[in-house]
Amino acid sequence: MNIICDKYDREYQVTQCDPGGYERFNIEYHGNRAGYANCHFEGDVLHIDDLHIDEKAMRPRLFFVDLFFLAFSFPPERWRITNYQNRGLGTAMIDFLANYGRKKLAKCMEGEIKQYDFKNNPRLPEWYRRRGFVVVTGDIKTAAVARVSLVL
Ligand SMILES: CC(C)(COP(=O)(O)OP(=O)(O)OC[C@H]1O[C@@H](n2cnc3c(N)ncnc32)[C@H](O)[C@@H]1OP(=O)(O)O)[C@@H](O)C(=O)NCCC(=O)NCCS
Repeated sequence: MNIICDKYDREYQVTQCDPGGYERFNIEYHGNRAGYANCHFEGDVLHIDDLHIDEKAMRPRLFFVDLFFLAFSFPPERWRITNYQNRGLGTAMIDFLANYGRKKLAKCMEGEIKQYDFKNNPRLPEWYRRRGFVVVTGDIKTAAVARVSLVL
C-alpha cells in the first residue's frame, strides 16, 4: 500500500490501477476520493496526463448518523464537502510520481498545462517552477499553454 502525507501529516492512501493505455493513481482519505493522477510512459519519459486534487469532494452519508436526519435533508450537503487543495497533496503527488518514475528507470517527467487549467489557475506555471520543473511556454504543436519537465 502506498501512503502520501499532506502538510498536516495526515496520511492518504494511493492505489494504482490500469484502466487500459495509461496508469491511474487514486488518492483516498478514509475511503473518500481526494484526487487522482493519470500518467503513461513514452520510452524513458513518464508523461503526466492529468493531476487533480479535488476541490469539492463529497463525503458519502454516514448511514447510522445521517439516516435519522434524512427526512429533514440534514445535514446539509455543504457539511459533507471537503476541499483537499492547498494541503500539500499536489506537491506530495509530484514527489510520489517522481519516485515511481525513477523506480521504472524513467529519466524525465513531463506534462502540459492546458488552456482550461491555466484559465482556472494562472499560477500553475509558477506552481510547477517552484517544484523544480522547467516550464516552457507557448508550445505551438499541442496548443498547450506550457510544457513542464523535470529531470529524474
Ligand atoms: C494544481 C494542483 C494539482 C495543486 O495541488 P494542491 O494540492 O492544491 O497544491 P499544494 O498544496 O501542493 O501547493 C499549493 C500551495 O501550498 C503550499 N504548500 C505545499 N506543500 C506545503 C507544505 N508541505 N507545507 C506548507 N505549505 C505547503 C505551497 O506553498 C503552495 O503554494 P505555491 O503555489 O505558492 O507554491 C491542484 O490545485 C489542482 O488539482 N487543481 C485543479 C486541476 C489542475 O489545475 N491540475 C493541474 C493540471 S497541469
